Amino acid sequence: MLLKGYIWLLLCYAQNARSNLIEEYEAISRHFVLPEIRTGEPLPVELGVDRYSGCICRASHDRQLVVCFGNYECTRFPQVKIQSEILRVRTTVMVKILRGQLNTLNHLKILEIEANHKLQYIEPGIFENLKNLQHLSISYNTRLHSINERLFEGLSNLRNLTLVNNGFNNILDLTPAFRPSILPLLRWLDVSENPLEIIPEHAFHPMKGTLLRKLDVNLCRLDEIHPNSFLVLKNLKELHLGDNDLNSTLIGDFLNRMMIEGINLTNLDVSGMGFRKQPPRELMNIIARSTIKSLILAQNQFEIIHDDAFPRMPNIELLDLRKVLCISIEGNAFSPSKFPNLKVLLLSGNNLPGVHKKHLSDQLLLLDMSSNKGNPANPVYYEIDRDTFLLCKSLRILNLSFNRIKSIFDYTFNGLVNLRILSLENGTIYHIGDGTFKSMKRLIVLNLANNPLTATENLTSSQFDGLNELKMLNMQNCGIRHFYDDDNMFEMMPNLTHLILRNNLLYYITAETLKPLKFLQVLDLSQNLLISWWRPLFLVSGVKPKTLYFTNNKISHFSISMIEDISYLLENRGNVTVEIDFMNNVFLCECSSMYKAYLWLQANGTKSIQKFFDDSNFQCSSPDPWEDRRVAEYLSSIRHLRCLVYQKISNVMVLVWTAPSLVSIMLVVSVVVILYKYRDYIRYWLFLAKLALGRNFRKKTISPKISPTGYKFDAFVSYCSEDREFVSEMLVQLESNPPNLKLCVYERDFEIGSFISESVQTSINESKYVILVISNNFAKSQWCRWETQLAEYHRLFLEDGSAYDPLVLVKLGDIEGKYLTTTLKYLLKTKVYHSWDENNTEEFWKKLRKVLMKNS
Ligand SMILES: *[C@@H]1O[C@H](CO)[C@@H](O)[C@H](O)[C@H]1NC(C)=O
Ligand SMILES: *[C@@H]1O[C@H](CO)[C@@H](O)[C@H](O)[C@H]1NC(C)=O
Ligand SMILES: *[C@@H]1O[C@H](CO)[C@@H](O)[C@H](O)[C@H]1NC(C)=O
Ligand SMILES: *[C@@H]1O[C@H](CO)[C@@H](O)[C@H](O)[C@H]1NC(C)=O
Ligand SMILES: *[C@@H]1O[C@H](CO)[C@@H](O)[C@H](O)[C@H]1NC(C)=O
Ligand SMILES: *[C@@H]1O[C@H](CO)[C@@H](O)[C@H](O)[C@H]1NC(C)=O
Ligand SMILES: *[C@@H]1O[C@H](CO)[C@@H](O)[C@H](O)[C@H]1NC(C)=O
Ligand SMILES: *[C@@H]1O[C@H](CO)[C@@H](O)[C@H](O)[C@H]1NC(C)=O
Ligand SMILES: *[C@@H]1O[C@H](CO)[C@@H](O)[C@H](O)[C@H]1NC(C)=O
Repeated sequence: MLLKGYIWLLLCYAQNARSNLIEEYEAISRHFVLPEIRTGEPLPVELGVDRYSGCICRASHDRQLVVCFGNYECTRFPQVKIQSEILRVRTTVMVKILRGQLNTLNHLKILEIEANHKLQYIEPGIFENLKNLQHLSISYNTRLHSINERLFEGLSNLRNLTLVNNGFNNILDLTPAFRPSILPLLRWLDVSENPLEIIPEHAFHPMKGTLLRKLDVNLCRLDEIHPNSFLVLKNLKELHLGDNDLNSTLIGDFLNRMMIEGINLTNLDVSGMGFRKQPPRELMNIIARSTIKSLILAQNQFEIIHDDAFPRMPNIELLDLRKVLCISIEGNAFSPSKFPNLKVLLLSGNNLPGVHKKHLSDQLLLLDMSSNKGNPANPVYYEIDRDTFLLCKSLRILNLSFNRIKSIFDYTFNGLVNLRILSLENGTIYHIGDGTFKSMKRLIVLNLANNPLTATENLTSSQFDGLNELKMLNMQNCGIRHFYDDDNMFEMMPNLTHLILRNNLLYYITAETLKPLKFLQVLDLSQNLLISWWRPLFLVSGVKPKTLYFTNNKISHFSISMIEDISYLLENRGNVTVEIDFMNNVFLCECSSMYKAYLWLQANGTKSIQKFFDDSNFQCSSPDPWEDRRVAEYLSSIRHLRCLVYQKISNVMVLVWTAPSLVSIMLVVSVVVILYKYRDYIRYWLFLAKLALGRNFRKKTISPKISPTGYKFDAFVSYCSEDREFVSEMLVQLESNPPNLKLCVYERDFEIGSFISESVQTSINESKYVILVISNNFAKSQWCRWETQLAEYHRLFLEDGSAYDPLVLVKLGDIEGKYLTTTLKYLLKTKVYHSWDENNTEEFWKKLRKVLMKNS
């Protein structure tokens, strides 16, 4: 898609003036250097079900795009009331489109009728009202085998017509419909992916006089084209014949005829044509004499490109040799004497082991050497010779991404004084030498994403020296943990507008780091480990991006500093739309984390910050009652009184520290009260501590006397008395049948008179596994809760990274949500459990036995 963008760009370049080239590069580079960040619903406006057709329709915010679909119910062409520019009707089950059904669509500029797998018939006359339509696609409707020759009547402004992948199998049935008397402005026709097989001599005769510039007939199983067939297309400039089965003689024949007739092609696509060893020489000679500027030979097979692979081809500006399985290129294959006008050379997707000076001619503007990983069976590091680019003074775009480049040095990119875009993404770059980018004074876009840059070294400013004009930097997934303020790399790039730091390991960023980035507009810090910040970042650094992503971090509190930053970013922005995204953090919706921010908002909040919160969607992650509810909702419902009490207590605590004598009595009293109130918990925690100590102790002094594995029992069974029957069955099943496991069940096995929780503790310690029989009753009873937690802690204490997990869950029936404790919920969410199945008891016991036999 992006590479298509490339080619398209270059076609533009070939036709248009040179002046806006760079702006176009930039526009495109923005797409590929900046990852798609917004995951929001692309068609947010629901228009509901159209009564007439049964289709569901949605629209974009501005209502310029409407899409209608409906896999089962959508049986007719939908009646859309909105005056949109673009309408897509796809994946419906309509069989026919009838006259009149499109009559209200005269505002449409683009109409796409695609992937309607039952569509068989389109009645002529349906487009009679669509005078404004410029682009029509009727594609991927595989049951549509023919069209009426008067079908397109009315489309007097249509420029692009796409009829890809329908069931058309004869071009003679199609062309009468494209007559210039019906489609006077048609410029681009795409009939790719239809099984046409042959283009006979008179195929395009009905189109005599057409202004058609571009014709696509890719992947049509063509093995024959009559040499005269294109001659009526006098204005044809671009011909795309990729992925057919045409031999080179045949292609040469019709090209020759076209040249004689004065049809001056500029673009020829003969990719995927099965050419082998060398570009077919005769055909290359013919092309060399033609006006063709852009030659696409991709996906053929030329392992070695020799010096004399091509004749002198003075008109060629773009040569596409992507995916031709090339392993080596001789030094003069693309020399300026052969290709004096070559501007774009695409060599990506081959097996070239590196790039060498001799490959490059100095008039190149764009070089794509990406995705060359050497012989796939024996991958090697990608080599770039010293001073390879020394003469490439014109090069604007260099793509070296997806290569196994190890390191880059100050001599690697020497000479690239006019480079604007450099992509090094998905390499294996772990070393950037000082001054590597120094010669690229005019670099605008640098993509370093997905390289282990910080594996062995820190990022320093001297590495990025010279990037004065850099505007976009992508360092996504580079393992970055810190930026160092005493050696701030961003001081080297004061003109940066886009900074992508997504998916690193940053847990903080300082105002000092950001300070040099005065022009920053987009900052993406999503997927890091950032926590809340307690000193303003943006306010202090004076950096004011308009788009800011903090999604997927570890932000829990709304500090006053954060609120001040947000406020700073939102205020006085004129008509700039500011976007600050905090989705998927771990906000704690409690007085301690939000109350101060709440007070600040009450006192100092402006309309715009109020709106920011109102429109926001980021959610609390705890405590339980607020889980998955909006932070904004929490803020607006903060219970003043409750948080006030909280604050008073905090203040008291402060007082306690400062004025001991006065409050100490109160303190003692409250401590006693608290101790009393939480005595159960305290006992519990003491107990756990004891357990922990016991565990550690036992681990060290494990006595081999107990059993060969160190355990007296194979499993401790925790259950509640209501499930006694089930447990008896379990005893029979597991103890009486081989391998005769030994279980500890407290009603039977506890020594009479020993304090019950101590016995539990001891027994758990002496059991290899702990089986929890989880039922509704189990969840309900306090005692069982106690045991669950115990067992869970037992597990935690033992966890040492081995695969052995002592907890085995058996679920008896469904459990009511209200009885589930946090621990139990967590366990059921994170662990595999065995559900009791009355209809398949054999299987159940077998599985359980197997689990308990593991690790013995
Ligand atoms: C028609 O196709 C050309 C590319 O060949 C494209 O640039 C143009 O935007 C298309 N027009 C419409 C209206 O889609
Ligand atoms: C190319 O195809 C034409 C027509 O199918 C055939 O006559 C001709 O012999 C073929 N040429 C080669 C070199 O295969
Ligand atoms: C094609 O080029 C030739 C010579 O360059 C010129 O005479 C002729 O008019 C051109 N044909 C068209 C259709 O522009
Ligand atoms: C570089 O090549 C890769 C893979 O071939 C492609 O995905 C990317 O868009 C290209 N980037 C640039 C800047 O041309
Ligand atoms: C690029 O690298 C990232 C991270 O190493 C990886 O997840 C991704 O799959 C790579 N992309 C390709 C096309 O190999
Ligand atoms: C990176 O910088 C930190 C702090 O300046 C330093 O402690 C550490 O040794 C550096 N690491 C390397 C690999 O230079
Ligand atoms: C980049 O920043 C410098 C100041 O550091 C300024 O002089 C220069 O004009 C800027 N260049 C661009 C293209 O904005
Ligand atoms: C508001 O937008 C208009 C055009 O959309 C622009 O000319 C103007 O400078 C903008 N005003 C501010 C304050 O950014
Ligand atoms: C409101 O802002 C002022 C000035 O920044 C600050 O002193 C005051 O503490 C803020 N009010 C609250 C309730 O935080």
